[in-house]
Amino acid sequence: MQIDIIDHEPPYRVGVIIGSLSRESINRRLANALTRLAPAELRLEEITYDRLPVYNRDFDADYPPEAIEFKAAVAEADALLFVTPEYNRSIPGALKNAIDWGSRPWGQNVWAHKPTAVIGASIGQIGTAVAQQSLRATLSFLNVRQMSAPEAYIHFTEGLVDAEGNVTVPGTADFLRTFLDEFLVHTMRVLTVVPRP
Ligand code: FNR
Repeated sequence: MQIDIIDHEPPYRVGVIIGSLSRESINRRLANALTRLAPAELRLEEITYDRLPVYNRDFDADYPPEAIEFKAAVAEADALLFVTPEYNRSIPGALKNAIDWGSRPWGQNVWAHKPTAVIGASIGQIGTAVAQQSLRATLSFLNVRQMSAPEAYIHFTEGLVDAEGNVTVPGTADFLRTFLDEFLVHTMRVLTVVPRP
């Protein structure tokens, strides 16, 4: 097995999967801010999934076009960034549904080996911490290469991200830059030791 090559040079394509389908989503606002703060080596692009039906295994024999497109977009990404709210101390059902689509049919799990980071914003004080633990357990089962630190639990207050997508609190902007810089390092490490098939 070859273990000493980098898959390709940067920039890396980062598929951004936003856990909220809300038009007013604070997590979408956070994702937009992250796009602006990201280092040049990371190119963040949203992967949408709002047209996916609810998964059940009867679809396995004949995946619908929406699901084929979604899986192709995930497969083409070099890395993945989940930006999710917390719903009732877990992740939103729509996000879990999208993850389930990507994991099947059996043996065709598109998430495996992807360098991945998780972040989320909530209006609550613990900033999606419980949802992220739930998401991490699912991603772990799916053989994803997760960045374990730094963790990023964003308590979203009014005005934290302005209309142009700028983070207005300097300490938070610095933290998010550090998070993204670490994600770049993590992505390069994973792509070095686990080249894509
Ligand atoms: C919430 N919210 C929430 N917040 C939290 O910190 N922990 C939680 O368990 C929940 N649960 C929850 C359930 C449901 C159904 C909704 C609609 C909301 C509040 C949540 O943080 C807030 O609505 C955010 O604005 C949701 O993120 P988006 O959709 O704006 O990105």
